[in-house]
Amino acid sequence: MGTTLIALGQQHKLLLLVAATLSVAACGDNVGPMGEVVDASIPVEFDAEPVDPNIFVWDMVPEGLPKPFVPEENPMTYTKVELGRYLFYDEQLSGNGTQSCSSCHKQELAFADGIARPTGSTGELVGRNSLGLMNAAYHTTFTWMNPEFHDLRTQIQVPLFGEFPIELGISGNDVEVLTRFSTDPDYIARFAAAFPEDEDPITFGNIAKALASFVRSMVSFDSPHDRHTYKGDTTAMSESALRGQELFFEERIDCHHCHGNFHFSLNLRHENTVFIETGFANNGLYNVNNTGSYPAPSEGLVAITKRVQDRGKMRTSSLRNVAITGPYMHDGSIQTLEEVIDMYERGGRFVESGPNFGDGRDNPFKSEFVHGFVLTEDERADMLAFLESLTDESFLVDPKFSNPFEQ
Ligand code: HEC
Ligand code: HEC
Repeated sequence: MGTTLIALGQQHKLLLLVAATLSVAACGDNVGPMGEVVDASIPVEFDAEPVDPNIFVWDMVPEGLPKPFVPEENPMTYTKVELGRYLFYDEQLSGNGTQSCSSCHKQELAFADGIARPTGSTGELVGRNSLGLMNAAYHTTFTWMNPEFHDLRTQIQVPLFGEFPIELGISGNDVEVLTRFSTDPDYIARFAAAFPEDEDPITFGNIAKALASFVRSMVSFDSPHDRHTYKGDTTAMSESALRGQELFFEERIDCHHCHGNFHFSLNLRHENTVFIETGFANNGLYNVNNTGSYPAPSEGLVAITKRVQDRGKMRTSSLRNVAITGPYMHDGSIQTLEEVIDMYERGGRFVESGPNFGDGRDNPFKSEFVHGFVLTEDERADMLAFLESLTDESFLVDPKFSNPFEQ
């Protein structure tokens, strides 16, 4: 219940502060706690309404920025978020008890996992690179290339129940997995607190709701770039990073066409979104045998829409924390940010040999905004410094998102 306590703690602090000011004024020396002169005749007013500890406060979203979209059927509450945190880190949530969400989503890596493609609980190779989860709640659609997952709760069914490939492998072990939770007094209490209206709250539906709430709560805006842009800290970004930021938004280089908002992804949805954008694009990563295709099992949006023009289209990645979520792209086939910059500079990637041979620059489905450009050595270093300024170090160690079994 750590987060609940934090929320309550803040409220108490506020009341204590007011009380302290009052008592100092009452002493008659008219000097406040900071040495300021206090006029005891001014009535101090404060909101005495008790704050419902269960209503989630998005206090990490800077003023002026919108909060994430929250679906009506799954409102945010601290008890649900906290239950989700336990489930996220619990290996009991896999068929054979060997894996948890955190096996592939590690906090110190912004909830990515540092490898090209992970293996599931029974050893099967997963089709794509594990996505980092910071600010995932701001996406319109979830995963690299599926336009149909509009809700975190729906997407989370995939690692839970998916069979092609198996990730947590619950299908076929449903009863056993649920029994692990329904016979555990700690979980019985947590489910009851999180879903007070439900007579029988320990269900997979509620497990997905709690996990979605926890993932949705993983919001953070404390990178040097954020501190500079939204919190008025003019020293937060280096000169080099600031020059890199200018380059990022220059028409000659054009990164901003796909990564140009506070989410660094066109695939953005928030509380005030009216026109929903999905932002899928082909950035010239492949052109297998110069036929315009991408290697299986990740042919792009076309796999779902069956439209030829959707070949190789992937969701435009958010670039937050990108310096630590490598290897890069949907299949983890680029190791470093330097190589990513090289690829865009070239206007697409050239795969010289092997089954994926071909020149991504000539992919007929590539976006017109990936047109190539020339950078000087200094400009390349600046661009890199900018991408590195998007790392939020505090998020990587924030106790709200850490493993509750290790405390
Ligand atoms: C075996 C590794 C693995 C496990 C276990 C796993 N994930 Fe993932 N996760 C992935 C991969 C890989 C992707 C990208 C999938 C794709 O694009 O097809 C992903 C994508 C996601 C996304 C979408 C993020 C976005 O930005 O669209 C969410 C949310 C997510 N996982 C949450 C979870 C939760 C919650 C659990 C536990 C129930 C979990 N994952 C378990 C590997 C894993
Ligand atoms: C036409 C839209 C578009 C433009 C322009 C664009 N990108 Fe991307 N970017 C994407 C897409 C789509 C992906 C994911 C592609 C994939 O996985 O196959 C991506 C992925 C990335 C990644 C890897 C993210 C990850 O987590 O793996 C980085 C880094 C990146 N882009 C940086 C840049 C920079 C820097 C520029 C400007 C030089 C730029 N992008 C221009 C669409 C674009």
